[in-house]
This record gives sequence, C-alpha cells and structure tokens, in this order.
Amino acid sequence: YAVTWDAVAAERGGYPHFMLKEIHEQPKAIRDTLLGRVSPDLSRVTLSELKWPEGFVKEIDRIHIVACGTAWHAGLVGKAVIEQLSGIPVEVDIASEYRYRDPIQTPNTLVIVISQSGETADTLAALREAKRRGRRVLAITNVVGSSAAREADDVLVTWAGPEIAVASTKAYTTQLVALYLLALYFAQERGRVSQDELHAILKGIDGLPQVAEQVLDTAPQIERFAKDWAHASDTFFIGRGLDFSVALEGALKLKEISYIHAEAYAAGELKHGTLALITDGVPVIALAMQDALYEKTVSNIKEVTARGAFVLGMTWVGDEELQKSVDQVIYVPHTLPLLAPIAAVIPLQLLAYYAAVARGNDVDKPRNLAKSVTVE
Ligand code: G6P
Repeated sequence: YAVTWDAVAAERGGYPHFMLKEIHEQPKAIRDTLLGRVSPDLSRVTLSELKWPEGFVKEIDRIHIVACGTAWHAGLVGKAVIEQLSGIPVEVDIASEYRYRDPIQTPNTLVIVISQSGETADTLAALREAKRRGRRVLAITNVVGSSAAREADDVLVTWAGPEIAVASTKAYTTQLVALYLLALYFAQERGRVSQDELHAILKGIDGLPQVAEQVLDTAPQIERFAKDWAHASDTFFIGRGLDFSVALEGALKLKEISYIHAEAYAAGELKHGTLALITDGVPVIALAMQDALYEKTVSNIKEVTARGAFVLGMTWVGDEELQKSVDQVIYVPHTLPLLAPIAAVIPLQLLAYYAAVARGNDVDKPRNLAKSVTVE
C-alpha cells in the first residue's frame, strides 16, 4: 500500500502554502510574544531578559535601529513609536548602508538590530561594527540560538515560531510587538508616561491578538479583489505617518511574491512627481488609519481618484466617510492609531498572497529571493 501523506503538506497544517499558514498564525504569534512581558493588571512592562546596567535606560541619548527588508520596515514603525513614547531620538538604517556610512554615535547610543533569522550578513556586520565601537547592542530576533542572539549584549526574542515562507509575515508583526513593548518600557522607566496612559496603551496591546483574529475575516473580500486585479502591472500604496511605514511593507510583499510592480508613497509626496504615473484604472491602496492625519489623507486620495485611479481604501470599522471617496473599502477592527500597523498589514499580506496565487506563482519560494541572505 502506498504512503499517501506528504510530510510538507502535513507541516503546512492543511494550508496550501506556508505563507497563508503563517499569516493565520499571527494572533497566536502576537500572544506568545506578549506572554510574561506585560503585568496581568496591564500596569507595567517587564522585560526581565534585558540585563541592562543600573541607570542605563535613563542614560540612552540616541538609538540606532539597523535591519534589512521587512525587518527594516518594522524598524521604521519602531522609530516613530519610540520617539513618540519615550522622547529618545531614533535613526533607522538599512544595514548595508549603516555598515559603511560611519554613523555618528555617542557613548550612550543604543544600537538595535532587528533580524528574523539573526543570520543576515549585513545586519551582523552592523552589529559587529557597533560592538567594535563599544556600543551596547540589542538584537530583536526570532531565532534563539542565532548569530545575532549570541553576539548581541541583549536579546528580545519574538516568539513567532519558525517562519518558512520567504515573504515575512508573522515575524514582522511580532517585531512590531517587541518594539511597542520596548518603547513603552523606555517611557515607563524614564517616567515619560502617566499610569493612565500606560494602562490605555497596554490595554490596546493586550487586545492585539483579537484584533489580528478579526482582521483575518477580511480574507474572502481581499481574495475577490486580488483576483480581479492580479493582471495589474503597477500599483501604488499610499498613507501618512505610521500608515506610510505599513504601505512600504505592503508594497514589498506584493513585489516579492506577485511580481507586480508596487511603490509606496507618503500620501502628501505623490504630487511631487509620482502623480504623473496615476492614470485610468491604476490600482491604489490607500491607508487612512491615522485619525490625526485622516482629512489630509482623504484629500490625497481625491488627487488620485481625479486622475482615474481605482482606489482600495482601508479604515476602521464604523467609518462612514472613506467609502465616499474610494472604490472599495477594507474595514479593520478598531484599536489605537499607534497600534494600527498590526491591524493594517494583515490585509496587505493577504492581498499579496492572493495576487500571487492568482498569477500562479510559487508563493513560498519566489524567484531570485532567499529566506535569509547570509552573504553580502
Ligand atoms: C531576506 C528575506 C526578507 C527579509 C530580509 C531580512 O531578504 O527575503 O524577507 O526581510 O532578508 O531578513 P532577517 O532574517 O534579517 O529579518
């Protein structure tokens, strides 16, 4: 009798691709990354794995975040969140740039490297260079025994579990969770947040697994949209503030696996050139999740619809306005605008996934890409 099961299919747990499985694992991955790091009464962040010397947190005067690819996109969100909550100035660099640019560091600069695998050559080179200069390095990684974890002074592990698909999904959302916790930890230790504010944000963070769960319900809508739209050759992702960082990640996902050309633009920057590329029927994905920037974003959306773009908008459940300015809307469950990247990225991951499937691509192993780039 023949063996009919296939080990890979079994590993995929019933999903047709690892990427889809990993997208669906995000609620659990987020929950696992939060575990033990937030007090049960949602009043404190405890990062007991950080063995920072007494007083170190108060003395940090600058942070450099260094990473590649999707991890760099997580770093962009990290910068905004750390600056907003803790007041520490943050720079974010692509590792292959950072290692050769002679960055200005102070003795109290904390260098944070973010790497799912912990083995990316450029990121490790940046880590080693920072250490050579005497900086303290924190690694945010998904692999406990990785080179980054071994060589950094401190490690914050993202508990996403093994990520097999080349296109990173659950690693990104858990990197964001780690960065939110770190930003809040800095704010808490440096006395930058009131207990009420801390509690409100921790309550939002605690609700993220459920938000992620509910966002996954958008999958059938996204699948239909992706099928209609998979023939496109160029697309644009626009947003402001944190939405722009998410737009970058959404565009990268689409390029990586569907091979559709995608560009992310800060919504207000479109008119400085790119608007020339918006013609009849060009798909634009527009994120309007930042309440404080909402009106501005809607005006930018009108700039593209006036030129014939087909706009897929994204906003919070309950928003009645956006539908008046766009062709279709994806509604995601409400959380704090600060935490919007976690809710907003999931439909974009699904969009890339279903577009790649519609085009018959090898979703888990896209052409020319490697899961981990261990050469320069
Ligand atoms: C490769 C992968 C990307 C990933 C990047 C950084 O290019 O294809 O998905 O974001 O490396 O990987 P790391 O393991 O350092 O996060």
